[in-house]
Amino acid sequence: MKLRKGTLSVFRPLRGSPILGNKTRLREKKFTDVRNDYRWQSDAELARLDATPVPVTSFSLYLLDYATALNQAGADRYPLAIETLEGKHIGNCTCYDIDEKEEEAQLGIMIGNRAYWDQGYGADAFKIMVDHVFRTTSLNRLYLKTLEWNVRAQKCFSKCGFIPCGHLKRDGYNFLLMELKREEWEKEPSES
Ligand SMILES: CC(C)(COP(=O)(O)OP(=O)(O)OC[C@H]1O[C@@H](n2cnc3c(N)ncnc32)[C@H](O)[C@@H]1OP(=O)(O)O)[C@@H](O)C(=O)NCCC(=O)NCCS
Repeated sequence: MKLRKGTLSVFRPLRGSPILGNKTRLREKKFTDVRNDYRWQSDAELARLDATPVPVTSFSLYLLDYATALNQAGADRYPLAIETLEGKHIGNCTCYDIDEKEEEAQLGIMIGNRAYWDQGYGADAFKIMVDHVFRTTSLNRLYLKTLEWNVRAQKCFSKCGFIPCGHLKRDGYNFLLMELKREEWEKEPSES
């Protein structure tokens, strides 16, 4: 289902109904995610893989910012929680940098619980995120950046149809850019 151009109601229709995949489901973020999110954001290996700084803030300060961020979600970034089909919160994915004029947006994903790496959970969650964005918005291009040496992430994104489209050097990191255009996504429609 394509919406009128310029209609960017990404994820608004979610409202309590998770998006189901084969191994995962995506739901809106809730306040009780805070403990997992703090643990994952304080994990040095996850930060290294994601090229982000480890927060040095205490849990109580993190909690304050978390509440604010949760209230502001939806303005131009749409964070979702990734759960197993049994309801275990294992990570997050986000659609952000939504550019209405260029009809594109950036996606990010993290499976924070490493017991779930390399079993297809990331690709399943990312694929249903992509499907949801293309089905419910008029965006024509989704892109992401990942560290050039992060082969696991690149393989996961390739499985979802993303192809390399450039390189970016920022803050001392070398990123590979990958993209998926709507016309390519439409060639391989999913079952739902
Ligand atoms: C990146 C991430 C989202 C991928 O999710 P995932 O569930 O682990 O990925 P998947 O299992 O769907 O796919 C990973 C693939 O890479 C393969 N792989 C893993 N390590 C590899 C390596 N060193 N070399 C080659 N392939 C590798 C896996 O075998 C799997 O391929 P397969 O399905 O053909 O067996 C998740 O691992 C994660 O969040 N990691 C930590 C944070 C991170 O890297 N973030 C980067 C975001 S840009």
